[in-house]
Amino acid sequence: MGLNYYQIKKNVLQARKLVIRGTSIAGSGHPGGSFSMAEIMGCIFYNHLKFDPKNPEWEDRDKLILSKGHASPGLFSNMAVAGYFEESQLDTLRQFGSKLQGHPDLKCPGVEFCGGSLGIGLSYSIGNALAAKLDQKDTHIFTVMGDGESDEGQVWEAAMTAAKYNVDNLTLILDRNFIQQDSYTEKIMPLDESLDGDELSEMWKDASRWKTGDKWRSFGWNVIEVDGHRIEQISDALNRAKSVKGMPSIIIARTIKGKAVEHMEDNPQWHGKAPHPTLVPVINEELDSQFMIAPSIIAGDMTNLKNEVKRCDDGRADYIHLDVMDGQFVPNSTFDHTKIKELRPLTVIPFDTHLMINEPVRQIQNYIDAGSDIVTVHAEVCDESSFGEIHDLLKSNKVGVGLAINPDTSMPDWSKKFISSLDQIIVMSVVPGKSGQKYIENTHEKTKNLMINLKENGFAGYIEADGGVTLDNIGQCFADGARVFVGGSAIIGQTDVRLVIREFRNQVLRTRRKLLIQKANELGGTELVNKWIDLHVIGKKKDELQQIATELGFQ
Ligand code: DX5
Ligand code: ZN
Repeated sequence: MGLNYYQIKKNVLQARKLVIRGTSIAGSGHPGGSFSMAEIMGCIFYNHLKFDPKNPEWEDRDKLILSKGHASPGLFSNMAVAGYFEESQLDTLRQFGSKLQGHPDLKCPGVEFCGGSLGIGLSYSIGNALAAKLDQKDTHIFTVMGDGESDEGQVWEAAMTAAKYNVDNLTLILDRNFIQQDSYTEKIMPLDESLDGDELSEMWKDASRWKTGDKWRSFGWNVIEVDGHRIEQISDALNRAKSVKGMPSIIIARTIKGKAVEHMEDNPQWHGKAPHPTLVPVINEELDSQFMIAPSIIAGDMTNLKNEVKRCDDGRADYIHLDVMDGQFVPNSTFDHTKIKELRPLTVIPFDTHLMINEPVRQIQNYIDAGSDIVTVHAEVCDESSFGEIHDLLKSNKVGVGLAINPDTSMPDWSKKFISSLDQIIVMSVVPGKSGQKYIENTHEKTKNLMINLKENGFAGYIEADGGVTLDNIGQCFADGARVFVGGSAIIGQTDVRLVIREFRNQVLRTRRKLLIQKANELGGTELVNKWIDLHVIGKKKDELQQIATELGFQ
């Protein structure tokens, strides 16, 4: 399908919501493993898999084989989003007579494999891959396998077979979430180093202990290891895997079971349990509240921007914010597209290009060619016609579209017709021109009001807070409705970028937890608040939630 980063992200979100909808109506099902593979499925479906939802039997299609069949809600939800059937079909999940069963079944057009008995999807995939070669077809097989099912001996027999027959038209993705039905994988049958003690969920955050890749390497496979929730890493890995000829490839994706809903994350209970219907609106709000941290490299050493990009990469930034200034729209100059092109090969992190330049329409192609994932231009230097041109050019090149407004500018009238297709709106909270300025307080109010207006006009992108964002105000910016946070002096200006990014995230999470408790209270008073809090059994979240609820007077 070839969608861009932003579109994949939107589809992944929608698919997660459908998993919640389907399993909560069914009263059973497997949300945990559906969520650990959500980004993996999104990248395969919307960027790599060749398919036609209107003609599921299309001869030249690729095949997606879900070996970990119990995660069928994660497959069906994407099939709905991709257009195989109506989203409302998810309401029939696991019902008698429905084509959407607890495990995928060929009765559902588009399903390639009856998953359920674990450990056999890879063997089946190898058969399909070899058959495609015999038929001289350009079919690619994508197989998603769980770590729990890696206990099966058949998996390792298949591993040897794929290497023997040089099966290179198959990409295996291991959803390495460290949890299987009964407990943590490392307790049941360690794939990595044997881990002892009670703090297992902490121990496996230590990447030096991960040995699964060595096993596959020794079986003759090309091994790629990624963070399985980063779209850009998965997509890049899928490209790299496909380009390796003569041997099979496995992508080991480090994931979190139940990812994106805090109380499900890393919690074995959510392997196979449905969310309670009363909590679905709170869960949906949580899913809608994903956020991204975007360090701005101009706050670093301008003579060594390569190193600044590296610091963002090491710090696990979500985006890299690139402030382009031309000395005309703003008094300062920074860099232009040539520098961005030079920096592009250094990382796969999305490039969030913010053009503070006059007549952006004349330059837009250069910034697309330089490898931007999104380009944001200023409303002050556009009109309906030039922005229309920019918008169309970006869309047709699969680059995200952003519009920025200065502190004293409102969204222009002409922007209305573009709002529903904008990926981002930057609300400047300093006068653009340099980093290190103080946040202009009335931006909070402005963002809140804008948010209401944008929702009415079908905005489905993110608001980016840019300028003077700090640990002290980031929580409020999130509450206003911003979801992307630029950090110049407060992130890049600091020595330990990784630590500051973590602090930024924790600060936002605290506000988010508070908003979700408020939502639970709104919907069901103290009873629902307590029900919500009680779900958070892993780590220290529960104590913090209790403290927030007490502060709010809900307990
Ligand atoms: C301002 C830029 C911002 C800014 C961020 O013109 O668009 O991205 O430099 O830096 P801080 O966070 O220091 O304000
Ligand atoms: Zn900026």
